[in-house]
Amino acid sequence: MSADPYVQSVNAHYGRGDLGGVILESLRAAGKEVDALTPDDLALVDQFHIRGKEATLELARLAGVERGMRVLDVGGGLGGPARTLASELGCRVTVLDLTEEYCRVGEDLTARAGLRDQVVFRHGDALHMPFPGGSFDLVWTQHSSMNIEDKERLYRESHRVLRVGGRLALHEIMAGSRAPIHFPVPWARDPSMSFLRSPVAVRALLTATGFEELAWVDVSAPSLEWFRQRVAAQATPAVRPLGLHVLLGADFGLMFKNQVRNLEEDRIAVIQGVWGRP
Ligand SMILES: C[S@@+](CC[C@H](N)C(=O)[O-])C[C@H]1O[C@@H](n2cnc3c(N)ncnc32)[C@H](O)[C@@H]1O
Repeated sequence: MSADPYVQSVNAHYGRGDLGGVILESLRAAGKEVDALTPDDLALVDQFHIRGKEATLELARLAGVERGMRVLDVGGGLGGPARTLASELGCRVTVLDLTEEYCRVGEDLTARAGLRDQVVFRHGDALHMPFPGGSFDLVWTQHSSMNIEDKERLYRESHRVLRVGGRLALHEIMAGSRAPIHFPVPWARDPSMSFLRSPVAVRALLTATGFEELAWVDVSAPSLEWFRQRVAAQATPAVRPLGLHVLLGADFGLMFKNQVRNLEEDRIAVIQGVWGRP
């Protein structure tokens, strides 16, 4: 493990040490064949963003994803979006993630889903992408920039690794018109790991970095509805072996309630955007 305090806090927040075992046990308990998993078997736990697989497919349509594309999923976590892009849309995806346990478990789940030829994992930092310039047709990112303070460098790196004519597709939580946000939230238990900027600031930054805007959609309203439904479901607890609580820990219920408040009070916004690299 790196001695860098930032790397340590990201790993401490997202890692739990026994994640692979817990996921496999829950899948077995649900009657799944763990050596022949389908992406849908995993969707409750490996699509770690608001509105799950639905939002992944929505962003793919917005970005014009095509068969054979070389995709870099920045902060791709356990690889749910990557496996969806590979199995449903024929992409070849590299997942780059700073949480070592996610890369290790994600690699195992990918092998169990028979997608090892199409999805690979690299443990590393989005601020120092370990790839030569022009390596990808599409840089993809869902809910990972909230932990990254140096967004200038994040988008500079995204621009560098894209080929000319490539695209950046993002689905990110940004700052609303009011501050501060209510903690804990799924990406941070306190302000030390949360770095939100407003949609206006991110748009200006992407333009200054050299990207051209192709689409910008505020999806805060369906995001609020999604959290409200999940908070309502918590009121009637059922046995739900697999779900985001496996990743978020005991305070996941409070995190979801805080997200309802943050969205209702306009403290956060959820944006999908697609940008071209001329
Ligand atoms: C909320 S999860 C989203 C995972 C995935 N994108 C998804 O939608 O399922 C945020 C992810 O960002 C990763 N992350 C945070 N900072 C990072 C950085 N500087 N470089 C690479 N990954 C990072 C975390 O390790 C975590 O896996």
